[in-house]
Amino acid sequence: MADIVESREVSALLDELTTTAGRADPYGHYARLRELGTFVRAGDGTVIVTRFVECGAVARDHRLGKTPTELLGEAGLADWADHPALYGYFTSLLGINPPDHTRLRRLVSSSFTARRVQALRPATERMVDDLIDAMGERDDFVAAFAFPLPCNVIGELLGIPPADRAQFQHLVQDWSAVLDEITPEVLLKADPAAQAVRDYLGGLAAERRRQPREDLMSALVGHEEAGDRLTEDELLTMAGLLFAAGFETTTNLLSNGLVALLEHPGQLPLLRADPEAAVQELLRYDSPVQNIDRTVLAPTTVAGVRFEPGERIVAYTGSANRDELRFTDADRLDLGRADNASLSFGGGMHYCLGAPMARLEAEIAFPRIVERLPGLRLEEGARRRDSLTIRGFDILPVATR
Ligand code: HEM
Repeated sequence: MADIVESREVSALLDELTTTAGRADPYGHYARLRELGTFVRAGDGTVIVTRFVECGAVARDHRLGKTPTELLGEAGLADWADHPALYGYFTSLLGINPPDHTRLRRLVSSSFTARRVQALRPATERMVDDLIDAMGERDDFVAAFAFPLPCNVIGELLGIPPADRAQFQHLVQDWSAVLDEITPEVLLKADPAAQAVRDYLGGLAAERRRQPREDLMSALVGHEEAGDRLTEDELLTMAGLLFAAGFETTTNLLSNGLVALLEHPGQLPLLRADPEAAVQELLRYDSPVQNIDRTVLAPTTVAGVRFEPGERIVAYTGSANRDELRFTDADRLDLGRADNASLSFGGGMHYCLGAPMARLEAEIAFPRIVERLPGLRLEEGARRRDSLTIRGFDILPVATR
């Protein structure tokens, strides 16, 4: 049996990763953790997985799943259903297990098709050009581009009218803070934010019931009405997840990716030559999602380590993406890297449903930005998002000329 390493140094490193400085630059801490062990134990008993092969195995193992809501009481969350922020998460695809996960994922996959995503290409190209046109000489890249692009693309797909979209940036940020830590202070902002998103989507669903259109919300309402076993409650949770996941992470792919590109100007020809491979490498190099969590549902052995039901495992996919056993010169950005499939979209049954959409946006955006704004550079004053799970920027000042 392989070991789960527990030591003072492990605890100290994990503590540092919860500080603002540790979150801002986790990669050195990850590297030291990988040296100490592929499996390490945190003070609260959680097992953390640091390497690529084993993180992938955790993501794909069906005996590992999402915390069954009956067990949330043990985590001090017995009243989860009374908190809109927790309800919207624990009952969504991201929080549930088969058979409900299988049923709901199948339903939404049948509406969220590759065809629907590809059909957004011309609109996405237009949005990218319009946003670049509107950028000032000095601007915040997050507010001017990285947030509005994905928010408008998912808004377009779902059928959220353009004028209504901007209000959701802060609401979704406040809501998704529960991914890092669930404390009364976090819930104080997260609950009203989650409720506001849900109320808004409830109104939109009612409109589409009266008058369906070509959008995804109408398709979801159609499933509900066709008796496809999608309740209104499930519909609102699904729409909330799609909307929030649709821009929260892609915003950060655009910001993290831009910083990586501007810090490696010599690689820009590789971006032009093969945007698809370049985006794949940007996702590996600095992923917007840095870890995924699982709870042991049935006894299992992962890479020689035995796990018992109820144990909590967190796969540090951000560390796995820099694993030197998997990638040559793993800390180096190489847009021409041939073998760069990462764990940034997770794996197994919860594999990111929006991966094709996120890729499409980034593959259109980066080459256009580089071509149309050749003088683009970073300015002082960037502010990172203070989170280990969601990696990105709140503010990213740039000069465009
Ligand atoms: C760069 C952008 C994105 C990244 C890095 C990302 C990352 C992830 C990851 C790591 C997971 C798996 C979580 C787990 O295993 O616990 C996931 C799931 C998911 N993502 Fe994304 N995502 C991105 C963009 C999107 C977009 C654009 C959408 C929707 C339009 C989306 C919708 C979802 C949904 C619905 C799930 C849950 C799937 C399930 O549990 O079956 N994501 N994403």
